[in-house]
Amino acid sequence: MRAVDVIMKKRAGAELSREEIEFLIGGYVAGTIPDYQVSAWAMAVFFRGMTSAETGALTEVMLRSGSSIDLGGIQGPFVDKHSTGGVGDKTSLIIAPVVASLGIRDPMMSGRALGHTGGTLDKLESIPGYRTNLSVAEFRRFIEADGFAMTGQTKEIVPADRLLYALRDVTGTVESIPLITASILSKKVAEGAEGLVFDVKYGSGAFMKDPVDGEKLARSLVDTGAAMGKRIIALLTDMDEPLGHMVGNFLEVEECLDCLEGAGPKDLMEVTLELAGRMVVLGGKAGNAAEGRGLCEKAIASRKPRDLFLDNVKSQGGDPTKLLALRGNYRSEFVATVTAAQSGYLSRIDAWKVGIAGVSLGVGRNRTEDAVSPVAGVQLHKKGGEAVSLGETVMTVWGKDAASLDAALPLLREALEYTDTPRSPRKLVLKEIASE
Ligand code: URA
Repeated sequence: MRAVDVIMKKRAGAELSREEIEFLIGGYVAGTIPDYQVSAWAMAVFFRGMTSAETGALTEVMLRSGSSIDLGGIQGPFVDKHSTGGVGDKTSLIIAPVVASLGIRDPMMSGRALGHTGGTLDKLESIPGYRTNLSVAEFRRFIEADGFAMTGQTKEIVPADRLLYALRDVTGTVESIPLITASILSKKVAEGAEGLVFDVKYGSGAFMKDPVDGEKLARSLVDTGAAMGKRIIALLTDMDEPLGHMVGNFLEVEECLDCLEGAGPKDLMEVTLELAGRMVVLGGKAGNAAEGRGLCEKAIASRKPRDLFLDNVKSQGGDPTKLLALRGNYRSEFVATVTAAQSGYLSRIDAWKVGIAGVSLGVGRNRTEDAVSPVAGVQLHKKGGEAVSLGETVMTVWGKDAASLDAALPLLREALEYTDTPRSPRKLVLKEIASE
C-alpha cells in the first residue's frame, strides 16, 4: 500500500477501508508516513468527508494507536464532558470539581488551543507548576483522591490524536465533522469514561458556524460514541459570542474560581450547569437534568467544588496559595484598552474575531511549536446586549509583546457591533441530542 494512493482515493471522494485508514494513521504514529502526506489526506477528508463506517474506523484506529486507561479498582461512576471548542469556553474547569463533589469520577483527557479556540491544557498550565502530562498511575491516583484529574494525550495514550490534533491546527483542517468526531471520541474512550456529555458549539466562534452543521456534528458524536458502547448526551450551544468575561489562559482560570465561589457570569453559569446537570444524570445521581442542575447549584453554594479544585491544583503540581495570590494581578505588562466607538447597545461581540485576536495576543498558537502566554488575553467589561457610551472602556487587552497588541487591537474593535435598541437575550442551549 502507498500513502499517496490512499490520499488520492479520498481526494476522489471514495470510501476508505479500515486497512487503508490503519495504514495511514499507523504509519504516521510510527514515523514512516510524513506530516506532509497526512496533511494532504486530512485536507482531502476535509473536502470529501467520511461515511459513518469510515468515521467509526478512524476513531477505533486512533484509539488503538496507544493504550487505554484502566480505571479498574476505582469506584465509579465515571462520567466526562468535552466541548467541540469555543472562545472563553472554560466550563471543563468548573464542571469537573462540581460533579466530583457529587460522587461522580471525572477522568478528563483534554486538548490544547486549536485554531482560534482555547485549550483546557493551556489554561491549566497557566497555573504555575500545574502539570498536564500525567502518568497513568498519577491519573488514577488523583481521580481517587480528588474525584477528577486532568491530563493530555501522551506518547502512550492516543498518540495519534496528539500528532493529528497539532497537525490539523496548523493546516486548516480542523473544521471537519469526521476528524473532530474521531479526535474527541478516541480520547474520551481511552480515558475510561462510561458516560459522556458533549458541548457541541455552533456560531462564529465555533468550528461549526450554524446550528445545522452543529447538529450534524452532535449526531456524529452521539452515534459513533454509542456504537462504541458509551452513553452520550450532546447539547447544542451558542458560541456566537465569547462565554463569560475572560478570554485567555490565566484569565479564564480566575473566572472559573469566581464561578466556583458563586460569582460567575450568567451565560457561563447557564451553560456550565446545563452540562453538569446532565453528567449527574448519566452518573445515576439524579433522575433528570433539572434535578441534576439543582444538585450542582447546591454543591457550588457549599464551596466543596472550589476546595476540590484547589486540591487538584496541589495534586497536579501547583500551589493553591500562590494561585490565589496571583488572582487579579498575573497579567502581561503589555496592556491596552478598547473603547466604545459609539453610544447605544452592543448588538454582538463576534467570538471568532476575539478568538483570532487571542491567537495574536498569545492565548493560542500559529505554529505547532509556538508557546502560549499564560498572561495574555482579553477581559470583556461589557457583553452583547449591554448599553455602552462613546469612549467607555469595553475591553482590557494583554498581549505577549507590543507587536501582538498592535496586531490584535484592530480586530477587537471590529468584533464590537452596535445597535441603537436593546436586543433580546440569546438562547444559549438550543437542543439536546442523546443516545438511545
Ligand atoms: N476538540 C478535540 O478534542 N478535537 C477536535 O478536533 C476539536 C475539539
